[in-house]
Amino acid sequence: METSRNRTMADSQNRTGSDELIFFVNGRKIVEKNPDPETTLLTYLRRKLGLTGTKLGCAEGGCGACTVMLSRYQAEPQQLLHYAVNACLAPLCSLHLVAVTTVEGIGSVARKLHPVQERIARSHGSQCGFCTPGIVMSMYALLRNNPTPNMADVEEAFQGNLCRCTGYRPILEGYKTFTVKGGCCGGKGQNGCCMTNGNGAFQGSKDKPEEATSLFNPADFEPYDPTQEVIFPPELMNLSKGQRSSRSLCFHGDRTTWLQPESLDELLLLKWKHPDARLVVGNTEVGIEVKFKNMVYPVVLAPGFIAELNAVTHTEDGVVFGAACTLSHMGAVLKEAVQSLPPHQTQVFQAILEQLRWFAGQQIRNVAAIGGNIMTASPISDLNPVFMVAGCKLTLRDKDGSREVQMDDGFFTGYRKTTVRPQEILLSILIPYSKKCQFVSAFKQSPRREDDISIVTAAMSAIFSPGTDIVKDLRLSYGGMAPVTVLAKKTANRLLGRQWGEELLQEACSSLAEEMSLDPSAPGGMVTYRQTLTLSLFYKFYLTVLQKLRLQGLSVQEVSSECLSATEIYHPETPSSVQVYQAVPEGQNQDDMVGCPIMHLSALKQATGEAVYCDDVPLYENELYLALITSTKAHARILSVDVSAAERCPGVVCCLFASDVPGSNVTGVRQDETVFADGQVTCVGHIIGAVVADSQLHAQRAAKAVRIQYEELKPIVTIQEAIAAQSFYEPIRAIQNGDMEAGFKQADHILEGEIHMGGQEHFYLETNVTLAVPREEDGEMELFISSQSPSDSQSFVAKALGVPANRVLVRVKRMGGGFGGKESRTTVLSTVVAVAANRLKRPVRCMLDRDEDMLITGGRHPFYGKYKVGFLQSGKVVALDVSFYSNSGNSMDLSQAIMERALFHMENSYRIPNVRGQGFMCRTNLPSNTAFRGFGGPQGMMVAENWITDVAHSLGRSPEEVRRLNLYLEGESTPYNQILHGLTLDRCWDECLSRSEYEQRRAAADLFNRQNRWTKQGLAIVPTKFGISFTATFLNQAGALVHIYRDGSVLLTHGGTEMGQGLHTKMVQVASRVLGIPCSKVFISETSTNTVANTSPTAASASTDLNGAAVQNACETLLKRLEPFKTKNPKGSWEDWVNAAYFDRVNLSANGFYKTPDLGYDFDTNSGRAFNYYSYGVACSEVEIDCLTGAHKNLRTTIVMDVGHSLNPAIDIGQVEGGFMQGLGLFTLEELHYSPQGVLLTRGPGSYKIPAFGDIPTQLTVSLLRDSPNEKAIFASKAVGEPPLFLAASVFYAIKDAVRAARVESQMMGPFRLDSPASAERIRNACCDQFTKLCPPAEPGTFTPWSVRV
Ligand SMILES: Cc1cc2nc3c(=O)[nH]c(=O)nc-3n(C[C@H](O)[C@H](O)[C@H](O)COP(=O)(O)OP(=O)(O)OC[C@H]3O[C@@H](n4cnc5c(N)ncnc54)[C@H](O)[C@@H]3O)c2cc1C
Ligand code: FES
Ligand code: FES
Repeated sequence: METSRNRTMADSQNRTGSDELIFFVNGRKIVEKNPDPETTLLTYLRRKLGLTGTKLGCAEGGCGACTVMLSRYQAEPQQLLHYAVNACLAPLCSLHLVAVTTVEGIGSVARKLHPVQERIARSHGSQCGFCTPGIVMSMYALLRNNPTPNMADVEEAFQGNLCRCTGYRPILEGYKTFTVKGGCCGGKGQNGCCMTNGNGAFQGSKDKPEEATSLFNPADFEPYDPTQEVIFPPELMNLSKGQRSSRSLCFHGDRTTWLQPESLDELLLLKWKHPDARLVVGNTEVGIEVKFKNMVYPVVLAPGFIAELNAVTHTEDGVVFGAACTLSHMGAVLKEAVQSLPPHQTQVFQAILEQLRWFAGQQIRNVAAIGGNIMTASPISDLNPVFMVAGCKLTLRDKDGSREVQMDDGFFTGYRKTTVRPQEILLSILIPYSKKCQFVSAFKQSPRREDDISIVTAAMSAIFSPGTDIVKDLRLSYGGMAPVTVLAKKTANRLLGRQWGEELLQEACSSLAEEMSLDPSAPGGMVTYRQTLTLSLFYKFYLTVLQKLRLQGLSVQEVSSECLSATEIYHPETPSSVQVYQAVPEGQNQDDMVGCPIMHLSALKQATGEAVYCDDVPLYENELYLALITSTKAHARILSVDVSAAERCPGVVCCLFASDVPGSNVTGVRQDETVFADGQVTCVGHIIGAVVADSQLHAQRAAKAVRIQYEELKPIVTIQEAIAAQSFYEPIRAIQNGDMEAGFKQADHILEGEIHMGGQEHFYLETNVTLAVPREEDGEMELFISSQSPSDSQSFVAKALGVPANRVLVRVKRMGGGFGGKESRTTVLSTVVAVAANRLKRPVRCMLDRDEDMLITGGRHPFYGKYKVGFLQSGKVVALDVSFYSNSGNSMDLSQAIMERALFHMENSYRIPNVRGQGFMCRTNLPSNTAFRGFGGPQGMMVAENWITDVAHSLGRSPEEVRRLNLYLEGESTPYNQILHGLTLDRCWDECLSRSEYEQRRAAADLFNRQNRWTKQGLAIVPTKFGISFTATFLNQAGALVHIYRDGSVLLTHGGTEMGQGLHTKMVQVASRVLGIPCSKVFISETSTNTVANTSPTAASASTDLNGAAVQNACETLLKRLEPFKTKNPKGSWEDWVNAAYFDRVNLSANGFYKTPDLGYDFDTNSGRAFNYYSYGVACSEVEIDCLTGAHKNLRTTIVMDVGHSLNPAIDIGQVEGGFMQGLGLFTLEELHYSPQGVLLTRGPGSYKIPAFGDIPTQLTVSLLRDSPNEKAIFASKAVGEPPLFLAASVFYAIKDAVRAARVESQMMGPFRLDSPASAERIRNACCDQFTKLCPPAEPGTFTPWSVRV
């Protein structure tokens, strides 16, 4: 029999064949003979097993769309482990003897739904559904470990999941029904169901029966029975208990060999033989390096199952963790220790636990190892600072022995370098107990609290001479301040022997400011902020220690009550919410679902993974994959393109460039773009060519092998550079009304100001995808595209292929989110894919990776607004002159319409008698910016809210008062001469004031601010008025096609696409009402260009209005045709009438059409109607900022939104909340960083942060304004997609209000500039104080910054 030692030798020297990889997926045994070590579980599930329920959202562990549950039997101690992981990072080879459970494995619509799937769907927690399987699996894994969780457990389980549509509230609400406290009474509670909306009310209250507050009824849910869960496969249990789990394994791939040693000795021997080999445990670092940094590791060692590396030993000095212990395991052990040991012993443990709370998401913590974190040696590691100040000891081993090293500043020798020798491994880490008289704290400051990497991370430890406040030992460690984690040794040494008091603080701060200085060009930017943080965090530590010393009875200075909040550790509160809407009138037909909160029709399929998205279409037999070749320069001439290396790569079929386009290479909304760059590139990410190969991996590797030589030209990157170079697209639009001169003359005060608003990445969870399938005949081509605009895709493809549009069929089943990003920019991909399919006469597919999608497809336009405003002493604004500059990028795309909408919204909701707005579209060398929910409206309104706030601040009045004073009144006219009829702004305002208890909240915030120096609260109430219609008049049309089949079923097609917004659901509701049949008889399969032609993009919030009216039109035609049969047989059924009509040879198909009447605005004459009507809303938000770190909490938001008579309150409230949260990201969180050379630096969820679960306001109330019918749209409803987004500006201005309160402490009064987003950095920098004074910013122009504001 072969011994393990013999096997080891064979592993590394002689063996060429691979072992068998045995694992189970959803109970099915898989034996993989040739697993490639570079294949991830996600790729295997989707491509090899066809299990497409698990989604790809980012490939970097940052979105959770790929979450699955792994289960494994652990011998020591004997137990089954179930844990959620990111399939996108899990190497296939790591799954030997593991059971994988995917969303398909727990339930299905056809079989039986799992309660986790049912509840997210029925609680309206699934809109586009792309995130849903991942969220379902996070919840499922939680319940497998803890069938009775509390809300904190649920929130923790979702730290690694993102959703871009729902705003998270409904997901939490639905899953609250699984919790112990929130556990559902099954509808038997005294006031209806205990669970509903967190407020105990299930239906309208007695005094307001017509007001409903429930969007779902938990009593309808199937009960959850944990005993019914699928069992761990018995065969796998036997295999695991047998020998096979611990045997050594070897898997060979194209470029990498995976070696799983059986014992520590074997591992050490292998490491000695392969010193460059990587040890892979969680693969959360190595996986990123391979995927995004083009690293190739020929040998990978997998030590995850070696006992010594997983051991946890409690010693006299502390706890020793094997280096392969996962962070989750370490957390559990430390938590237990904290509970069982005296507090003075566990100071270090508590600091580590504090860091772990905000360390990635659970999926990462479940697999990532302690050793991985240390050995990655990242300067922003959150654990290394604590390990350094705690005096942790590392045991290093090689085959000849072991040595111990102290984890101090000698350990890290350079950026991602340590003193560990290549042949050595890290065996374990000793985390010591803290001593009496020792205090330890850890801090992490990141742009977003949950699942984010640090800007600055720190740990501090102070040891005092017993019974005194004299510093005996002090260690201050910072991450994010240098290429390595550093100790502020000079400062610490200076403070030794000193008393812990004010003097020490002063000296520490001035010393830290000197010692922790950064080069103004330092990578990561935010230099002033980072420097200030080192001081602010020390100050927090100072106060915390002061408090603790005092608690020990020492006579140190007391921490004054107004400083106490600076020492508080943030613990999120479970959010609660209320949703209010108008119940349907009594007596409404039971089959008529208009006005009812029915579930999104695909929600159940989305929750089970059965809903098919573009990339889920099964592979065609001879299908190929395409990868793009894009420019790395912002502005350059292409000198040469060398594809020789790419063509030699395995699997490559061909490379394509401009000369391969059979039709026209000219493309774009304004015909100012090319399919492939022709001689010049004008942005980083500009598509130069494409490589087609037999697989995604081969295509992408080959694309990276293409060599391009450029002659660089000077780029224009920022708006300011464009203004300096006068680089604008024509026309420069303007709207003027009144008499500017007279207006400013009349004004008591004139004020000038400016604001810059950053752009925004759409971050639809599903990136752009196209599958092009050429037909044999006549140049026909069928395309499956994730597109909001099938007709544009069709015409762009036809033009590039040189065929008439009737040969090109575009089909869209559903999208995983769009938000405007899949309106015009999807064509840059779909056209290229179609050209390739046409050339090769084979199906070609491409789904952009997240980084490519972010790089290539543009986003919301950054705006710069400059204004002069004249106003009376009363606060009434009498004159406004405003200029807008948008960063449009390298092509016009939709920039003109976006700028026009910004101008149409420049006064937001305020009547300004004398006004002029001008709009300049800056031509820059950024990827073309494009449509994004709100389409320029939010940018226009943001500038308006800025000047109105300035007016208030300069008068010393409250902004709320000045806003109310200037609010439009019924019958008043806009700057573009549209009279406002049916205005509900005042109603929304008053209801919002009362629902938010504004006056009490304001008084409470003022009191809080007087009582707290370092935390401040702020409030703002902000209105919105959003014009509904495409501003390009011709787009305000729609078509529908309705077939009634002989069995009475109805197939409905219309021109709109489904991207999660519930359009298809609403259209079914409309058809059902008009035809008088239940919704279940109506079906929508997809949107396609061969059923409804010449469709307008699904955009401008107008799709329900337009397509709804077209559906109504078609259904009414059919109804008329059926009328004689109904009259003849009044007691007959729908089926009877349909059949009778059929036999009478009546056409049971009809198309419908609608165009919005009386539209058409003319900029030259400032006349004509720009909009059909307006949607109105008002929001009040309350926040709390930490003046020392810039972090903020969203405390409360109350929204009152006028959506007319809601067609579906669940969908509409979903749009309000989802839009609000997207706006919250825009105004407070999301920042795209560009280098001065125009390179996008933020290309994935790791660096670009959209709101997460924890960003929801702790109290969120959404009320749909009642009794507000809208005669201009289908069944008196109103558009809802875009209008609520801007209401999140209330959070921005609440933050500004809080910052103002902080500045008052430093005697800084009057207007001040705060650009958007109000990031932690901007908030901190604006709260000027003694710490910011010690860290002055470098003089602009004296250095090259890491990133520039574009
Ligand atoms: C989405 C996401 C979020 C993250 N968030 C955070 C965060 O909030 N804070 C933070 O600090 N980090 C974060 N990280 C970084 C990362 O998760 C950690 O560094 C993690 O601990 C690495 O462990 P691993 O087991 O996955 O490492 P692997 O990728 O398996 O290995 C990483 C490196 O460590 C080496 N190595 C591992 N074990 C040993 C050993 N025993 N001896 C010698 N070398 C060894 C490997 O050779 C390799 O070079 C995040 C990563 C991702 C993907
Ligand atoms: S795809 Fe795996 S976390 Fe995003
Ligand atoms: S429903 Fe969550 S991303 Fe669309």
